[in-house]
Amino acid sequence: MIKFLLGLVVGIGLLLLTGYFFATHGGISLATKGGPLPMERFLAHQALAASIGQSSGDQSPFPADETNLLAGAHVYLQNDCVMCHGRLDQPAPDVAKRFYPHAPQLLPPGEGVTDDPVGTTHWLVKNGIRFSAMPAFERKLTDAEIWQVSLLLRNADKLSPPVQEVLRQSHSD
Ligand code: HEC
Repeated sequence: MIKFLLGLVVGIGLLLLTGYFFATHGGISLATKGGPLPMERFLAHQALAASIGQSSGDQSPFPADETNLLAGAHVYLQNDCVMCHGRLDQPAPDVAKRFYPHAPQLLPPGEGVTDDPVGTTHWLVKNGIRFSAMPAFERKLTDAEIWQVSLLLRNADKLSPPVQEVLRQSHSD
């Protein structure tokens, strides 16, 4: 038993040491260009899902009506979402692809997060995403504004003409 435990400790130690040398000798490039590292996507996805946890089931206290979607469109334009996630019916902004991970297009023609629970989007906008360019908006926006922009993104593929019109403006006043 003692031998087994000793073997286990030495084994884990060697693994950590290998990882350390791999990381400190350029084995892991932290540049934004290039594809994902081995297991990176899987681990990041699992960690994010665990962080969001039960919040994905949170329901918006506001309905996805015209007033809230219009308000959400203004939030989207006034808080730099547009800079990274792009404009309605336009190609993705150049900067989106220079981040790693890339900033996804959240309005059509992008797929966005229309299939994701609104609670998940609310959590992501509120808390941001570590190791990415996605900022946390908890201290910048009210909770109502975070719900409104989350409702907008959830319904991005079926927005009314007036909401689309707001999203096409270059500045939102
Ligand atoms: C400086 C750039 C930047 C800004 C500003 C920004 N984001 Fe992001 N956002 C990102 C990046 C990069 C990701 C991808 C992170 C990842 O994949 O881990 C992301 C991811 C997201 C996601 C998750 C997308 C998905 O496919 O699951 C949502 C939702 C989101 N952002 C909403 C917003 C909203 C709303 C705003 C404005 C209030 C905003 N973002 C502002 C860069 C930005």
